[in-house]
Amino acid sequence: MTSTVLVAGSANLDFVVRAAHVPAPGETVLGREFQTFPGGKGANQAVACARAGGAETRMLLALGADDFAKPIETSLIDAGVQLHTVRDAQLPTGTAFICLSDDAENAITVAPGANMALQPEHLPALGGVQWLLLQLESPLDSVLAYARAARTAGVKVALNAAPAQELPAELLAQLDMLIVNEGELAVVAGNPPDLATGLERLDVPCVIVTLGARGCLARVDQRILLQPAFRISPLDTTAAGDTFCGTLIACLARGGALDRALLAASAASALACTRLGAQSSIPDHAEVNALLADATRLPGADAHAALAAWCAL
Ligand code: RIB
Repeated sequence: MTSTVLVAGSANLDFVVRAAHVPAPGETVLGREFQTFPGGKGANQAVACARAGGAETRMLLALGADDFAKPIETSLIDAGVQLHTVRDAQLPTGTAFICLSDDAENAITVAPGANMALQPEHLPALGGVQWLLLQLESPLDSVLAYARAARTAGVKVALNAAPAQELPAELLAQLDMLIVNEGELAVVAGNPPDLATGLERLDVPCVIVTLGARGCLARVDQRILLQPAFRISPLDTTAAGDTFCGTLIACLARGGALDRALLAASAASALACTRLGAQSSIPDHAEVNALLADATRLPGADAHAALAAWCAL
């Protein structure tokens, strides 16, 4: 039987300007080329999950009745995502304004628009779903309601706590997996003095912390797994985290072990950093497999030792 992943969350049209550097507060920077890309953390994760293959991917999203919705729907459908769309004619489709610097840094401001129309009652039937993947660009009440409903139905729940916000204990209690970067860990764990304390404070069976160019770690109950990053020259890190999340859950949904899923998610995320845009940058299964098959590009023992030393766990 094919596994099914349901992603419930945001979809945005990204307005991207490339510039020498991201402007500081109060600064105006003269940028260069401008492009739009389908984005939004939820939609990016759904595309990554679908492109990873092996699991049917569905997405609950909310869009406006405007011209910005079309490219998002087309991108999701082309990736093979089955859509449950809430259409809100009163609100504009979500948008994100991204400044991308020449050293691949970015600054993102999201205007959520229709994403805020996602309500608890919009959750589709969960029959046949193995994993529910959530983020925080939708109303927190809805995120909590979806997590609760999934838990009750025996569906595993993963939350990517992005953008960072403090989380109610009741939401954490519904999760099988929490995925955060370092900044998000600081917020959800109440500014811990170090990584170990942050991990200790989170009462979730599996916590994954992504560490950018260093790699990532997973704390599964009392066990720690480390996955160093693949070495790449980054062009655009937008959606790198989303690619990681979607690929990871697809691998787990098709029965993969967590260490293998971390490896595949890291490979997909590395490839996404070498291309422009959000959904446009997400690799498919074949591209990820080709990278994994190239022994010269796999992170070596030195990278593993460096990550272990940095984590000091
Ligand atoms: O994680 C990257 C995404 O964040 C962008 O695609 C943008 O839409 C914002 O949601």
